[in-house]
Amino acid sequence: MNRNHLLRRASTVAAAAVLAIPVASLGLNLDQPTFVDDIAPILHENCASCHRPDEIAPMSLRTYGEVRPWARSIARAVENRDMPPWDADPGYGPWANDISLSDDEIAAITQWVSTGAPKGDGDEPAYEQPAEQAEWAFGEPDWVYEFDPFDVAADGPDLFTMIPITPGFEEDRWIRAVEVQPGDREVLHHFILWRASEASAEVQDAWIDAWAAGGGPNEFPSGSARLLPAGRNLLGDFHYHPNGNASTDKTRVGLWFAEPEEVEKELINLWVMNAAFKIPAGDPNYEAHASHVFSEDVVVRSLAPHMHYRGKDMRYIAYLPDGEERELLSVSRYDFNWQTFYEFEEPVELPAGTRIEVTAHWDNSADNPFNPDPTVDVTWGSDSTDEMLIGFVDYVAAEGLSPKPASAVVAKLAELAETHPGQAWRFDVTRQPGSGPEPTAMLLPRDGSQGGWFVQFGTLALPAPIVDIVWDGNNVTATAQTPGNTMQLKGSIQEDGTLRMHLGPGEVVGTPAERETPATLPTG
Ligand code: HEC
Repeated sequence: MNRNHLLRRASTVAAAAVLAIPVASLGLNLDQPTFVDDIAPILHENCASCHRPDEIAPMSLRTYGEVRPWARSIARAVENRDMPPWDADPGYGPWANDISLSDDEIAAITQWVSTGAPKGDGDEPAYEQPAEQAEWAFGEPDWVYEFDPFDVAADGPDLFTMIPITPGFEEDRWIRAVEVQPGDREVLHHFILWRASEASAEVQDAWIDAWAAGGGPNEFPSGSARLLPAGRNLLGDFHYHPNGNASTDKTRVGLWFAEPEEVEKELINLWVMNAAFKIPAGDPNYEAHASHVFSEDVVVRSLAPHMHYRGKDMRYIAYLPDGEERELLSVSRYDFNWQTFYEFEEPVELPAGTRIEVTAHWDNSADNPFNPDPTVDVTWGSDSTDEMLIGFVDYVAAEGLSPKPASAVVAKLAELAETHPGQAWRFDVTRQPGSGPEPTAMLLPRDGSQGGWFVQFGTLALPAPIVDIVWDGNNVTATAQTPGNTMQLKGSIQEDGTLRMHLGPGEVVGTPAERETPATLPTG
């Protein structure tokens, strides 16, 4: 998303300042930092994009006069890493759009405050406010949409609204750049542009871009673009934060398209999601998982955890087929207010068969100050008072323009998760020597009716019957009738929901069908 522009814009300011003053990171005086020499450059580069007039933050932080009264809360905010808003735990990435402060910068600020926050000698470096953007960043857009005016009262809770847009394109469009021009930057906290699903014009199916306070326009990495199929709707998703003055917001969105022959990679927005959770009322640390297995080699560009007000933390781990385990991202203090896409500086290559697992926790207790209601069980829903568990992954196929359609078996798993919750598992098995493991779906009904072991044949997922299914608590025995073979199955469900199964000579582990995602359903 466009937080990288926040960085880019801020770095332009810093580059301009280099001529006049020492760059903060090169010459921080940690013994006696002063505003003029050490602190102003840090605040101009990392804070003023939001902390300046007409932006979302409650106070300006540009001049000594503006900053001095806030010195103590600034020290507290940066020491706790509450500010600037950047929730990825240290040690992951590195991220191209990282706006967090370095340890030295934090030390300089806290030392400056504890030594009386002196101004220092000489003139203050001037904050160069980026020019007001009347024009569009990348020239006249190919398509502009202006939303109807939206009234935001002076006070009250945050407001959310989702507005469908019917662009009516008769051909597929490849979106290469997006600019959101907020009508009122003092109240628009964030905005997400979604692609609607094929099935319903009012339901999201892919994230196209987002704008958050302090952000700017966004151009996707060279040669890559998002696909908006012909006839497909868009959705504008607004989060308003009343700030004391009544306001009317009139936001505009501009899109720039690429010619189909210019597009080398379709930038895919994958939802590693789980919609089958139920968070008990009052539970301070409810855990759920979601996972996705890539059926081909991919290159991951960025990650974005998505939950609502009860969201507490999220972790992404990639399990590679060779057994390697890579922690991609951990956000241990998730904050719903900042819908950040963490963009890898070096995109991450993952081979076919890699499983990305997302683990999330929610705090549904009264101790969570953001909790709208700790007395109710909470399930999936699009209202901000419902919950979600989505680990967004932006990726491209390593080979070719777009990923190949996902397997029919994965689609079957998603279906079984709906129709037979808790009774279907995914087993990745190697069918032919030399070929990689592939997903199979095993249905073991609790009522003892006939089950099936679904394997991909051409474009279809065809079942081998499973009979004589006997469940005893979490233990199951059954017989699979594969072509020309009868196999005894014996397994038991583990605490984490997986099904450990003796298959032939070895033991295999099946993951619950609920952990598959509808986003992997083949399109078309
Ligand atoms: C992306 C926008 C953004 C950036 C960048 C940002 N802030 Fe903020 N800041 C905010 C917003 C919005 C609030 C108000 C938070 C709220 O109302 O919950 C805030 C609040 C604060 C507060 C008040 C916190 C409190 O104790 O109530 C301080 C202090 C602060 N920011 C300091 C900083 C400093 C220092 C930086 C840079 C190192 C920074 N901010 C960067 C958006 C930003």
